[in-house]
Amino acid sequence: MIRGDGWKPYCIWEHSATVRDLYLRRCRREAEEMTSHRQAAELLASRIKPGETLLDAGCGSGYFYHALSSRGIPAEYWGVDAAPSLIEIGRAVLPVYGLPSERLLPWRIEDLDGLVDHTVCLNVLSNIDNYHRPLERLLRMTRRSLIVRESLKQGAEYHYVRDRFLDPDVRLNVHVNHYDVEDVCAFIRSYGFTVRQVIDERTGGKPEDVIGYPHYWTFLVADRLPEGTSRS
Ligand SMILES: C[S@@+](CC[C@H](N)C(=O)[O-])C[C@H]1O[C@@H](n2cnc3c(N)ncnc32)[C@H](O)[C@@H]1O
Repeated sequence: MIRGDGWKPYCIWEHSATVRDLYLRRCRREAEEMTSHRQAAELLASRIKPGETLLDAGCGSGYFYHALSSRGIPAEYWGVDAAPSLIEIGRAVLPVYGLPSERLLPWRIEDLDGLVDHTVCLNVLSNIDNYHRPLERLLRMTRRSLIVRESLKQGAEYHYVRDRFLDPDVRLNVHVNHYDVEDVCAFIRSYGFTVRQVIDERTGGKPEDVIGYPHYWTFLVADRLPEGTSRS
């Protein structure tokens, strides 16, 4: 027998009560704001004009909405995440804070299409198999600016390792990938953007241990070039 429902059983994000509890507390504003979310909001603040759309790709439960609304950043927030149970948390809680539940969508980045003004993708691509397909979708969809925070360094490394922080008896592997920073920048430029690296304020550019593996958190801030601009 062949089945087509393998996504959820293999999705590590569907197998951690600890993560669900943390994301619930973030939605309820009971947990401290993430430094990376503060930094991303500050990078976005000057870019967003009232009513422009912002896509949070791999949004968890959508709590980046608070980083915008608490600073009066006037974006129309949309969150997309491949883990339906995490989206459900945001849909249950964030309407209390003014986000309509239909702005949170249980979809994969790879399957997206359409247009948005701005995109953030924070702490997502380093833990999936590769960045090309999802990042291409986001670059094609984004009219103005894109901000990513991922594990980037000189020289790529790809690992697929046991995640020992999941629920008891769950034995799943997770990708812990560090992409070559110049590779990713060149990829972004090739879709018509300028891009610059920004030091991650949480880690000061030093490796940080996450689930037992170093991550090299780096922000990339990309702005779309006007139509017809030469990239050379
Ligand atoms: C480490 S969490 C980061 C959540 C949030 N961006 C943050 O900064 O707290 C990674 C998220 O990416 C989501 N994710 C993983 N692969 C995805 C995909 N292909 N499309 C959409 N979301 C994905 C996971 O479900 C998870 O919620």
